[in-house]
Amino acid sequence: MARLDLASKLGSWLRFAALIGAAAVLAAPSFQAAAGVDKPKLERGKGERCVEDTDFMRRNHMQLLKHHRDETMHRGIRTTKHSLKGCVECHASEKTGSVAATKEDFCMACHTYASVKLDCWDCHATKPMAKKPAKTEAAAEAKTSPLMANTQNGGAKP
Ligand code: HEC
Ligand code: HEC
Ligand code: HEC
Repeated sequence: MARLDLASKLGSWLRFAALIGAAAVLAAPSFQAAAGVDKPKLERGKGERCVEDTDFMRRNHMQLLKHHRDETMHRGIRTTKHSLKGCVECHASEKTGSVAATKEDFCMACHTYASVKLDCWDCHATKPMAKKPAKTEAAAEAKTSPLMANTQNGGAKP
């Protein structure tokens, strides 16, 4: 008799524990949703993936760019893997064609949110270089302008 009693006590305790567990599981998703509510919405980059792991890029892209900049400026090293031009090519917005024309554009979305201001765009283009100039004036200009000829040569001196 005593054994049966214990078993039924244990049984109701287990049911109680299961109830608590279920409540916790049900509560979890709404908590997560609340935490993510005001994250900025980002346009997805072009291509399959970023130059590094996405999560790494979220946290460390500034290091890549800064480090790169210092090497470029002070030691004359220039690689293309983490080039700013590359970021712009893949992350320019479909709508504005730029990474920083509006607050929704890729480089601006998070920075506005995080109150980071970049001076990069004083010197660097926010839009990809036109690869296919429209057949009309742009193409004609490319042939005739000595300035264009220079830049198409990578700016190298003849
Ligand atoms: C005063 C002008 C100026 C400013 C401001 C500036 N840069 Fe540069 N940057 C240059 C010049 C000049 C070069 C070397 C020429 C080149 O490689 O095109 C360069 C090269 C680079 C390169 C290597 C080349 C490439 O295309 O990737 C990176 C990366 C870079 N800068 C990142 C940045 C970032 C990020 C910022 C903002 C935090 C910034 N720069 C701000 C002038 C500037
Ligand atoms: C070849 C195209 C390509 C290049 C070049 C590129 N990216 Fe990306 N990037 C992507 C794609 C695609 C994703 C989305 C990947 C995913 O969803 O897992 C992404 C994701 C990111 C993210 C995370 C966005 C998010 O949703 O949180 C950051 C930050 C980022 N890139 C920054 C950069 C920077 C800075 C550079 C230049 C150093 C760069 N990317 C160069 C294609 C590119
Ligand atoms: C997923 C959000 C996100 C995206 C997208 C993003 N950034 Fe950032 N970026 C940040 C945050 C957050 C910081 C500030 C980090 C800190 O203060 O430690 C930052 C800082 C930087 C810095 C250093 C600024 C400074 O003065 O220290 C540079 C340079 C930079 N980002 C470049 C870029 C470029 C270029 C792009 C677009 C290709 C870009 N970021 C897109 C979140 C983002």
